[in-house]
Amino acid sequence: MKTRTVGPFTVSAIGLGCMNLSHAYGVPPSAEQGEKVLRAALDSGVTLFDTAALYGFGANETLVGRVLKSHRQEITLCSKGGMAGVTGDDGVTRRVIDGRPESIIRNCEDSLRRLQTDVIDLYYLHRWDKKVPIEESTGALSRLVEQGKVRTIGLSEVSAGTLRKAHAVHPITAVQNEYSLWTRNPEIAALDACQELGIAFVAFSPVARGFLCDAVHDVTTLEAKDIRRTMPRFEPANHERNLKLLPAYKALAREAGCTPAQLALAWLLHKRDFIVPIPGTTRVDHLQEDLAAGDVKLEPGLLQRLEALVNEKTVAGNRYSEQSNREVDAETF
Ligand SMILES: NC(=O)c1ccc[n+]([C@@H]2O[C@H](COP(=O)([O-])OP(=O)(O)OC[C@H]3O[C@@H](n4cnc5c(N)ncnc54)[C@H](OP(=O)(O)O)[C@@H]3O)[C@@H](O)[C@H]2O)c1
Repeated sequence: MKTRTVGPFTVSAIGLGCMNLSHAYGVPPSAEQGEKVLRAALDSGVTLFDTAALYGFGANETLVGRVLKSHRQEITLCSKGGMAGVTGDDGVTRRVIDGRPESIIRNCEDSLRRLQTDVIDLYYLHRWDKKVPIEESTGALSRLVEQGKVRTIGLSEVSAGTLRKAHAVHPITAVQNEYSLWTRNPEIAALDACQELGIAFVAFSPVARGFLCDAVHDVTTLEAKDIRRTMPRFEPANHERNLKLLPAYKALAREAGCTPAQLALAWLLHKRDFIVPIPGTTRVDHLQEDLAAGDVKLEPGLLQRLEALVNEKTVAGNRYSEQSNREVDAETF
């Protein structure tokens, strides 16, 4: 397994996004299946694991903590706070963005308990809470470092401007934003800011939530709770148009001697040497396929044709609904 650098950590060039084991794409797999995927990742040399307080409203951290605790020294454990499940008076738990310092500290302490560890290696602010200055939320993350509860800090779904403000309060180790062939926002400014400041870029949803794996054929069959149902790119009319990109995309994958999923991941690894993609999967065979992308070599000519084929202009529909867009940093550049 090739490696990359994330602040003080040397990590596998491809990490594991653990969210999918408890959250997001319909009914999550059983705990046994989740454990199988996590153990297969360990056995295959994955050393960067990504979770969050939000995922399964704590269930994902509980699973990750239980399975990975005996390997704690071998891995870089990453989690996130500032967006978590909050149970209201009606007994219903809802996702709440809350970047107030006291909430971030409480989220982190809850995460430490669920993860069965004394310290989280990389702790992100999951969303910038626009009601709280980024400097205040970053100050809380900084206090967690002082208290020895987290080793380093990161931000998720932030623009270059917000990153610079936060970095002035406390050094930021990693930015975790969506980045893939069909979501190119980071190319506007966030990637350059990371390069300039020596910050790692962790690319989430790197295989386009399954689209670039040729895994989403009929959106009407997605489960009711699958979050793709709320995403404009997966609305039937847009998806129909996007599917038309796939035959040429799959031909490029064949030319590169890899699978469609591997092409999406290899492209990210070729873009900059400080990018670490974190694909998510519920299946061991998909995990093995994704990890093998680290060995795929893409020629400059093929990279050019690939980028011309799949980019934000050739894709139909926005990545987020209007409501979700309001929750992320203005444009997430
Ligand atoms: N910071 C944030 O706000 C944020 C937001 C979203 C995600 N994330 C993180 O990023 C991670 C990955 O993002 P994501 O899960 O949204 O998107 P993704 O990794 O782009 O796509 C995941 C989807 O692709 C499928 N897939 C993966 N490899 C495949 C393969 N080789 N062949 C066929 N299908 C494949 C998975 O299905 P199968 O289960 O069938 O393999 C799953 O439905 C998450 O786990 C989470 O840790 C962070």
